[in-house]
Amino acid sequence: MPIKKVVIPAAGLGTRVLPATKVVPKEMLPVADKPAIQYVVEEAAASGITDITFITSRNKRAVEDHFDDQPELRAALAAKGDEGKLSKITEPSTLARFNYVRQQEPLGLGHAVLMARSVIGNEAFGVLLGDDLIVHPPRPGLGQLIDVHQRTGASVIAVMRVPREDTARYGVVTVDADEQLDARTFRVRDTVEKPSPDEAPSDLAIIGRYIFTPRIFDLLEKVEPGAGGEIQLTDAIRELSRQEPLYAYEFEGMRYDIGDPVGLLTTSIAFALEREDLSPQVKAYLRTLDLE
Ligand code: G1P
Repeated sequence: MPIKKVVIPAAGLGTRVLPATKVVPKEMLPVADKPAIQYVVEEAAASGITDITFITSRNKRAVEDHFDDQPELRAALAAKGDEGKLSKITEPSTLARFNYVRQQEPLGLGHAVLMARSVIGNEAFGVLLGDDLIVHPPRPGLGQLIDVHQRTGASVIAVMRVPREDTARYGVVTVDADEQLDARTFRVRDTVEKPSPDEAPSDLAIIGRYIFTPRIFDLLEKVEPGAGGEIQLTDAIRELSRQEPLYAYEFEGMRYDIGDPVGLLTTSIAFALEREDLSPQVKAYLRTLDLE
């Protein structure tokens, strides 16, 4: 069955980007001229997803509003005949059908995904994390995982090779060298959340794109608080890898981490440089900088 539903956790406090996120949800911070979360929703839509469930929390109303109609603004732009801006504000609400589930307490990523259980039901689904932007035209990051799921019927997680000294920022996988499907697709034997470099079982880090069979919900129900005292998705994934086939897929494309101020800034510049309408002026500005 094709994957049609995804969960996008958007309930985090965004403390790495304070004070910008004191009032504004981190998902709404701009990358070039779009809220970061819109790129993630566009990736899902381009991967064939029709139903998106956001896990939100207090202070995340702006996310709901962004993917809704804005009648006053729409009327004002229509009256001016400004078709370009009109399509910019109407497009987000057309990308998918949206559901919202509130997480009342920040109990962890695993807990957030579990909150979507009743909306997803008993079918395979995707998860996209908003801190990770993946760019790979023409096949989007999530779409690549969906292709592996179609081949195998199994759960699939995106991985990327990272420098050893960075493993404590990620979930890290142990793969089975004898059960590799192809150069990019590995059978997972174990996972660990945020291991120190000397404890990390490999340099293959989990990046925020996942396809799960609904079994993950049963496992999330049982997971005890792990790293950071939170209900970790990675701990349920470890159990999943013991109960059914699970693949790690080394995706093609560029990944941008916008979870901290430097990542947010550099991603904004990189995305602006890819835009025909923005890049000449941004390049002209960058050339004026004396960086020594
Ligand atoms: C989350 C996951 C982690 C994964 C990372 C990717 O961590 O728990 O396994 O490697 O996203 O960005 P977070 O960055 O939310 O701490």
